[in-house]
Amino acid sequence: MLAHDLRRPTIFPMDAALGAEVAEIDLALPLTGQGHAALDAALREHLVLLFREQNLTDDALVAFSRWFGELDPPAPNPYGEPLHKSHPEINIISNVMQNGRPIGNLGDGEAVWHADMTYRDNPPKAAVLHALEVPPSGGATYFANMFAAYDALPEALKTQIEDKMAIHDAAHNSAGMLRKGYTEVDDVRETPGARHRLVKTEPHSGRKALFLGRRPHSYVLGLDIDDSNTLLDTLWAHATQPDFVIRHDWQAGDVLMWSNLWVLHRRDSFDGTQRRVMHRTQIRGDA
Ligand code: OGA
Ligand code: MN
Repeated sequence: MLAHDLRRPTIFPMDAALGAEVAEIDLALPLTGQGHAALDAALREHLVLLFREQNLTDDALVAFSRWFGELDPPAPNPYGEPLHKSHPEINIISNVMQNGRPIGNLGDGEAVWHADMTYRDNPPKAAVLHALEVPPSGGATYFANMFAAYDALPEALKTQIEDKMAIHDAAHNSAGMLRKGYTEVDDVRETPGARHRLVKTEPHSGRKALFLGRRPHSYVLGLDIDDSNTLLDTLWAHATQPDFVIRHDWQAGDVLMWSNLWVLHRRDSFDGTQRRVMHRTQIRGDA
């Protein structure tokens, strides 16, 4: 059997909300155009794809990711340096310390609900996260389907947010840590970062989705701060309901790919004495 002949892809939905597992594929082998097309379609449909028992070198992770587009270099770490010296397009997600410094981002704490790098005008459209080492427990990652969340909004709320825009904070990472070169601002109206519409339309299907980015330091343009906070709290509580969410408990070798613009994700904390090491790429959004 050809490992990458995905004309009859073995793709199993994980949950009604979103997510699918792709079986019988070795991502370290070169993909074909047909294989890429099948995975691209599956990602569009399921928004999160899981590949188990993978063993990708950094070169292979980059080569696989490149099928889906140009890669976006990650933001520098809080010390202002790229994390991965030989592969600057790779982001390291880890709590491991070396010479008194973290080798990666996000530490061992919770990462609150977010989409990646939406503080940019053109955030990455997808991310690929490969688990190299995982702790025996904790550190699960959750994804929420923002098409489903939008569809289930009360009509009045859909109308209320149709033309509104929100600020997506650039100053903090998803672990809440201040990035190098930024200072704390108290007034959310002055939060630095991209302004995006709260409702985003997927160009292929025309489907609408909630586009929330991250809750801390966000602000809905044109509203009083209190009204903005009330509206955002309502939207966030709605969007992260269990009905729209899947949970992934990691095993070493897992690769998760997510469609960054149409899902939110978050991560549980874990025991900081345990090692968790993941390598990630992020695929540039279409202009
Ligand atoms: C990320 C992220 C989740 C995790 O890589 O963007 O949020 O499980 N990581 O570490
Ligand atoms: Mn993230």
